[in-house]
Amino acid sequence: MLVTTPRVFAGLLCAVAMCCTALAQNASYEPDTGWQAPADAAARVNPLARKPAAAAGGKKLFLRECAECHREDGSGLVKKHSADLRLSVVQGQSDGTLFWKITNGNPDRGMPSFSRLPEMQRWQLVLFLRQLAPLKDSREKQDAK
Ligand code: HEC
Repeated sequence: MLVTTPRVFAGLLCAVAMCCTALAQNASYEPDTGWQAPADAAARVNPLARKPAAAAGGKKLFLRECAECHREDGSGLVKKHSADLRLSVVQGQSDGTLFWKITNGNPDRGMPSFSRLPEMQRWQLVLFLRQLAPLKDSREKQDAK
């Protein structure tokens, strides 16, 4: 048998997981310049901004509705062209813009509309997105390759 000890097996699993992570995250994601929220939508303020605890519900929603494309940590999948939601090109947008993008989607590029979710759940999702681990230097790393 090739894989005999649990330690070797765990090591292999780890290597496989690391490999998948590297392939999966979509650090080279560029937002669609034609997908722009109208100014009044972009200016909307998150009504839950002062209720950080609501992000926990946002996380549950994210795992249920979004993780299949954006992965649990928000890093996205290259093969689905799904956004790495931790990138500054995404995080640099206003809460209102993210809310509008979640609501309307960009079906031509694979992002569905989530207008079927109650408005407060969409704001909860925005709140949760703000809690994703920031990824400041990914763009530079990508360029260096
Ligand atoms: C079927 C796959 C899929 C699902 C499910 C999905 N997304 Fe997306 N999402 C995408 C793709 C693909 C893009 C990139 C669209 C583009 O290129 O304009 C995207 C883009 C986004 C963006 C905008 C990034 C930018 O360019 O500014 C946000 C925000 C986002 N998704 C949030 C979510 C949230 C929150 C959910 C769950 C409620 C979700 N997505 C579910 C595929 C998906």
